[in-house]
Amino acid sequence: MAEGAAQNGTEIAAAAGALRAGRLVILPTETVYGLAADAANARAVAAVYVAKGRPSFNPLIAHVADLAAAQRVARFDDRALALAEQFWPGPLTLVLPVADGTAVSDLARAGLDTVAVRVPAHPTARGLLAAFGGPVVAPSANRSGRPSPTTFQDAVEETGAAAGAALDGGACAVGLESTVVALLDQPRLLRPGAVTRAELEAVVGPLSEAEADAKRSPGRLARHYAPKSPVRLEAVSPRPGEAWLSFGPGGRGRWNLSPTGDLAEAAANLFAYLRAADRTEPAAIAVAPIPEEGLGEAINDRLRRAAGFVG
Ligand code: TXA
Ligand code: MG
Repeated sequence: MAEGAAQNGTEIAAAAGALRAGRLVILPTETVYGLAADAANARAVAAVYVAKGRPSFNPLIAHVADLAAAQRVARFDDRALALAEQFWPGPLTLVLPVADGTAVSDLARAGLDTVAVRVPAHPTARGLLAAFGGPVVAPSANRSGRPSPTTFQDAVEETGAAAGAALDGGACAVGLESTVVALLDQPRLLRPGAVTRAELEAVVGPLSEAEADAKRSPGRLARHYAPKSPVRLEAVSPRPGEAWLSFGPGGRGRWNLSPTGDLAEAAANLFAYLRAADRTEPAAIAVAPIPEEGLGEAINDRLRRAAGFVG
């Protein structure tokens, strides 16, 4: 339902009211659907963890309307400002030292002295953040360990029962969660995403790897993005009983991630096709090789997690 992108003001006002009342909201963003709560309200944040079945040590991203609001949440150095100017609003999350007097509750930060912050680009998310006025936590709206929802229907199916309001913003244009970069010491890529390594390095120079810093990225569990069926990667062709996610020209079957070999299109289709293939209860989901370049790094990261490999 693409018309959902043009959300009317009444629905957004009602959703902002739900947040103020401590309730949860299904929220479209350009990356994936989120399950949103008032970041300042620890009881509402706790309800998010319960709805997702998520380990409570996993910190959440504070979503805000603009850079000025982000600067009330976190402390920005020159590198953080440069990245924000280049990529916000958009699919980039910055992990920064928390600002004095931040509204983001300790629970949302899992007790850390750092905070993840992002300014989403989706018009409905922007509308809600402007109407609400404060930071909003919004983890992906899936139950823990399941693929992130990229359509309204999938989001409602996953965690809609826990929400007091649900905003339909159509299918998510990006389809993968935001890139997460920590700027605490040297810049570190904690989660690859739609903003690519090369785009980031053009602004802040070489990125360190996340592995040495795993405690700062507790969300990167193995099998974090798993469908119920086993996933077989780098498959040249499907075996009998397998569902087949192909890629590129000549890829046959129902689920070609991108017939033209376009990585952005493949990212946008990835989670929806994993879900659709999973619903047919195949022996396994076989996935064609995806090039490890540009957005391919993020796609392959999610696929390795879906297959149960430690990233
Ligand atoms: O695209 C997105 O970012 C989506 C949409 C809804 O905005 N949200 C999302 O949130 O993916 P979530 O909670 O599923 O993922 C948040 C990631 C996790 O990997 C978490 O560990 C990391 O951000 N994170 C949050 N706060 C952190 C912190 N203080 N230090 C390090 N990593 C942090
Ligand atoms: Mg998630």
